[in-house]
Amino acid sequence: MEQKKRSSFSSRIGFVLAAAGSAVGLGNLWRFPYLAARYGGGIFLLVYLILALTFGFSLMITEIAIGRKTRLSCIGAYKALDKRFGFLGWLAAFVPFIITPYYCIIGGWVTKYTAAYVLNGAEVVAGGDFFTGFISSNVESYFWMLLFMAATFIVVAKGVKGGIEKANLVMMPALIVMAVAIAAYTLTMPGALDGALYYLAPDWSKFSPELVIGALGQMFYSLSLAMGIMITYGSYLDKKSSLTQSVTRIGGFDLGVSFLAGLMIVPAAFVAMGSGEAVAEKSGPSLMFVILPDVFSGMGQAAGVVGFVFFLLVLFAALTSAISLTETCTSIVQDGAGWSRKKSLCAVIAFIVAMGIIVNSGYNLLSFVEPLGAGTTLLDFCDFLSNSVMMPIAALMTCIFVGWIIKPKTVADEVRLSGPFRAEKMWTVMVKYIAPVLVVVILVAYVAQQFGLFVM
Ligand code: PHE
Repeated sequence: MEQKKRSSFSSRIGFVLAAAGSAVGLGNLWRFPYLAARYGGGIFLLVYLILALTFGFSLMITEIAIGRKTRLSCIGAYKALDKRFGFLGWLAAFVPFIITPYYCIIGGWVTKYTAAYVLNGAEVVAGGDFFTGFISSNVESYFWMLLFMAATFIVVAKGVKGGIEKANLVMMPALIVMAVAIAAYTLTMPGALDGALYYLAPDWSKFSPELVIGALGQMFYSLSLAMGIMITYGSYLDKKSSLTQSVTRIGGFDLGVSFLAGLMIVPAAFVAMGSGEAVAEKSGPSLMFVILPDVFSGMGQAAGVVGFVFFLLVLFAALTSAISLTETCTSIVQDGAGWSRKKSLCAVIAFIVAMGIIVNSGYNLLSFVEPLGAGTTLLDFCDFLSNSVMMPIAALMTCIFVGWIIKPKTVADEVRLSGPFRAEKMWTVMVKYIAPVLVVVILVAYVAQQFGLFVM
């Protein structure tokens, strides 16, 4: 095998920031806040925190350890551990190919908004027509998607050290600074503290199975689990870096940004709409792309600046995630087809651009295609297929594979190579018993929800 030529991160902080860059993304910034608003604020935060610290961290450490042990991306990694289970790698490998094109479409929306605050001003961006007009346009929406893709591809083309690591070293700290600044600013708006209280105080009556399922699905997506990303990044990591510490930092970053995102978005939306219920109802893309611009436009002179900084922060988050997705696709093609990195990247770019164009046409030329029922788009379909079907299956199989086939000790030994593994007992129980059961629950619930058996 060609391990000698494998790329690597130059430092542990480089690895941690790149993995955190992958984790922190649109999931944290638009999805998390509306879920928290919908599911009773503090109670959702609490459930999410518990799930992330147990299940999330366990799966992340498993994936990074598998990558580092085998030095391969997911297709090769599972096969190297057990010949009969190569198919598992293929399953996980499909997911980033489905997510990347549609992720770049939303990335294009964010790019457009960031630019619009500079070029057109805050008043123009406010109002729902701006959003619908833009996504349904036959030229513009494609242009911004391609621009976002180009930025992503350039970074990946520069390699793991020279591109990905460097980009994350700049974008991630900048993102944190901007997030803290915007949160501090929105909290000074009159009435915002009531919104913050709504976000933080647990409403116990909202506790429900749907809440737990919602939190679980969000956690997978947000931590970038079950799609080979952490395996690929782990394969670039040296044997000396402590895995438990890295995972705590990556997870901590992700949790922190989600928390901050809620703290800036929920109170702002609360001010605009007057109640938590109203905020919850307006969830989804409209919260970020329609409601927030309305809130910003009411900020007087600061409107343009706040809007611009906010969308720049979202743009950074989206870019670092898109970079990790593209990198994962590339390393999968590289390992799977045995091609050079350059050739693999070219093939991946061609695929992402072609798929992006097709999926984006679901908002304009092909808007009559409604794969999941009236009002749904091709993008919704890709999102459903990857997050609600394939990721839970891949996670379930990973847990069974590690817990019962290769045995937890194989992975634990890899973790211990670089430091003590204090949570080993808890991790073993998690991977063998608790996680598989929970995953089956999410899977069944998600599919049931999709077919309208209950509303989530
Ligand atoms: N974790 C990212 C987010 O929260 C999304 C993502 C999913 C990134 C899958 C990479 C892979 O937005």
